[in-house]
Amino acid sequence: MNTTVKLFGKTFDNPLLPASGPIVGELETLEYFNESSTGGIVTKTISVEGAVVKKPCIIATSHCVHNTELWSEYPLEKWSVDILPNLKKNLKKPLIVSVGYTAEDLEIVVPQVEEYADFFEVSTHYGKDKLESLVTRICELTDKPVFIKLSPHIEDYLEFVEIAVNCGASGIVAINSLGPGIVVDLKNRSVKLGIDGGKSWVSGPSIKPVALNRVVNIRKKFPDLSIIACGGVEKAEDVLEFILAGADLVQMLSSALMKGRELFNKIVADLPAAMEKYDIQSIEDLRNTDLGLEPKGSGGYPQVDNDVCTRCGICVKVCPQMALSLNTEVILEKEKCINCGLCQSKCPVEAIKGVL
Ligand SMILES: Cc1cc2nc3c(=O)[nH]c(=O)nc-3n(C[C@H](O)[C@H](O)[C@H](O)COP(=O)(O)O)c2cc1C
Repeated sequence: MNTTVKLFGKTFDNPLLPASGPIVGELETLEYFNESSTGGIVTKTISVEGAVVKKPCIIATSHCVHNTELWSEYPLEKWSVDILPNLKKNLKKPLIVSVGYTAEDLEIVVPQVEEYADFFEVSTHYGKDKLESLVTRICELTDKPVFIKLSPHIEDYLEFVEIAVNCGASGIVAINSLGPGIVVDLKNRSVKLGIDGGKSWVSGPSIKPVALNRVVNIRKKFPDLSIIACGGVEKAEDVLEFILAGADLVQMLSSALMKGRELFNKIVADLPAAMEKYDIQSIEDLRNTDLGLEPKGSGGYPQVDNDVCTRCGICVKVCPQMALSLNTEVILEKEKCINCGLCQSKCPVEAIKGVL
């Protein structure tokens, strides 16, 4: 089982990286990733001045994270004189330095952190205004590969990618957090956090389908472009799904905010078994496989294997058509069934076949 990824002359032991955010904003937290089993490290976004962030700025619900963070609260000097030189002393894996936000900022930031970066990632959370000058300028400032980070609220994202590529970008990071969203606090009849009218940015497992959609479509239009996927990863299978969708590397943040940073080591440890389960010899093979975009399921009637079924009744409860009932076994009224697949997708023991 080969989990190695080679990208622009650098070797990543596996495709999983932390995404830019508060878990990679201090020397101590970056050192954690240096010692962890992730394939590489990414930094919090660095700009010239430290960001002034309104607090509170991060909350987690059961299914997503909301945040109002900006870039690093440390100014450039803290990064260029302290954090990055100290991290570099014993760096064991490739380092992606995240930088932002304007071309003028990058003229100051990039020369001061260039020697520490194997790759640059540019946060463009505030849209595609001035994208052309931004990408052109950073590509003039460095020979290192430059990845431009896509925000999912950018409508014409394929045009965004095209501009980035035409101006010299080596790849895309997709996606940043989704939104804006809002979190209502019923108790205080207010919002729990938020800026500019209660806005917050949404991330975590809920946004994975949007991230996958962006990765698939970017891969389709730009088959040779390097892609770093990000958004909603929480387990080894998610990493593999993103690779099959067309990503070279995969980042994660919110699931670690929800469950703790040890999740990175768990996912890396789980990767070989997940690869074996789906008959994947190497990450490279999977990356070079085309994702079929026509469903393979027959859309037939659900067939319940009564030897496997535990009679839990979930399929009966969720059937939107009331086509299933539970007696000593699950019974289907075919004339009511619309072959939707929901029962099969919800069965916890995979006792239902025939639809998906
Ligand atoms: C608290 C928080 C802070 C973040 N800060 C940054 C940042 O400084 N720069 C950046 O490019 N993305 C930032 N992001 C976006 C993440 O890097 C990532 O793109 C997004 O959260 C989706 O991935 P996830 O669902 O695995 O969290 C932040 C996200 C969160 C939740």
